[in-house]
Amino acid sequence: MRTLISEVEIDARVKELGAILTAKYAGRPLTILGVLTGSIVFLADLIRATSTPLRVALIQAASYGGTRTSPGELSINNALVPDLKGRDVVILDDIFDTGNTMVGLYEAVREFEPNSIKSAVLLWKTARTEVDLEPDYFGFKIPDEFVVGYGLDYNDEFRHLPFIGIMEDEDLQQAARQS
Ligand code: IMP
Ligand code: MG
Repeated sequence: MRTLISEVEIDARVKELGAILTAKYAGRPLTILGVLTGSIVFLADLIRATSTPLRVALIQAASYGGTRTSPGELSINNALVPDLKGRDVVILDDIFDTGNTMVGLYEAVREFEPNSIKSAVLLWKTARTEVDLEPDYFGFKIPDEFVVGYGLDYNDEFRHLPFIGIMEDEDLQQAARQS
């Protein structure tokens, strides 16, 4: 596997994002809404890099029946979402690929009548955007490669890697043999 973004680079950028959120949301009722499962590592690090009061909440998004590169039907589970009325919400996800997931999340979050909704992602695959929406905050723009680590998975594995790696053909074949 080839490293695209090292642990050191991620750490530095997450600290910058934390400082940006701290400045933007000082004095506002911030709720960071992490998207399960891919955002968990980013969420854990980003909240500790943010020094304005905030709440943490979780929502789940999954696309079923999709392949590695084309997602299937989007399913959103909001059962864990607390009252967001009047809150300033930042939806936090691992990656903005086509953007369809984030658009669906905006719709789901709007129903909770928050004061504002913004989006933050660690990675943005800019060449694949299909929607009329861009992430408000992002860590890194990346090329159109399939990546894993730091929360991102392939077949629900590799989330624990502390860096972002590119899954090359060999890695995909090896993962297929082992599953
Ligand atoms: P969307 O295309 O922006 O809706 O992204 C859908 C979901 O696909 C993301 O939330 C990720 O879970 C997943 N995804 C997209 N690209 C990658 C990748 O390169 N590695 C791992 N997961 C990805
Ligand atoms: Mg995923």
